[in-house]
Amino acid sequence: MLPGGRDRVRIESLLRYPDWLLKLRYKWFARFWEAERGWEYKKYSVVFQGRDILEIGSGLGYDGIKYSASATSYTYAELNLVQVDFLKRITAIYNRTNMGFEYMEDPTAHVFPKQYSGFYAHGVLHHVPFDLAKQEFENIDKYLAPGAYCVFLMYPKERWVAAGSPDFSAFGNSTDGGCPWTEYYDLEKMQQLVGSKYKLVDVSKWGHQSIEFVNYEFVKVV
Ligand SMILES: C[S@@+](CC[C@H](N)C(=O)[O-])C[C@H]1O[C@@H](n2cnc3c(N)ncnc32)[C@H](O)[C@@H]1O
Repeated sequence: MLPGGRDRVRIESLLRYPDWLLKLRYKWFARFWEAERGWEYKKYSVVFQGRDILEIGSGLGYDGIKYSASATSYTYAELNLVQVDFLKRITAIYNRTNMGFEYMEDPTAHVFPKQYSGFYAHGVLHHVPFDLAKQEFENIDKYLAPGAYCVFLMYPKERWVAAGSPDFSAFGNSTDGGCPWTEYYDLEKMQQLVGSKYKLVDVSKWGHQSIEFVNYEFVKVV
């Protein structure tokens, strides 16, 4: 199940729809993201233009549908095969021909087929314990070329404090209803995650009361 606007949707049932109906429902769900993420779509469509982008934790692929229109190539990497099937189906319906798809059985050791010049993890790495997220990014780092532009959406510390500073095993309940693990990321922790090869270029706090989300943007310098 994945969030799609205010609804929750079972992917297996979406996959049974004919193309025309699937596209109709997908566009309906996408309206919610357009409203919430419009500023990101404007900014990152330009930033990712002409780059080979790797996105981990692509969900239903809404963001990649936008960014693949200007990127040279766009690769979705997910943990669930059914999501990969969905991503293949929806991008074919949108006639995207520059897509890659990676099913990661072990995200800390996955072998990617090429080097990338951009990276996008939107609401993903904060859902696993820090040590695991670090191992996953250390593996991804092997596939990011110098100059790679990297965007991470995380939850800011202020959101965790506003929730009463809960244990990370409980924080997910307030952020993503039933999610078993959510951590906050302040700048210090974020820099620890990516390491010294990555230079911070921008930080944007946004969403409800500007404490709902934080986007950290880095460039790989070596
Ligand atoms: C909250 S959803 C975010 C989806 C999408 N990026 C968005 O912004 O709407 C998290 C997604 O990340 C995937 N995921 C969770 N943990 C992951 C990990 N450690 N590495 C890669 N993907 C992960 C899940 O399967 C899910 O599709």
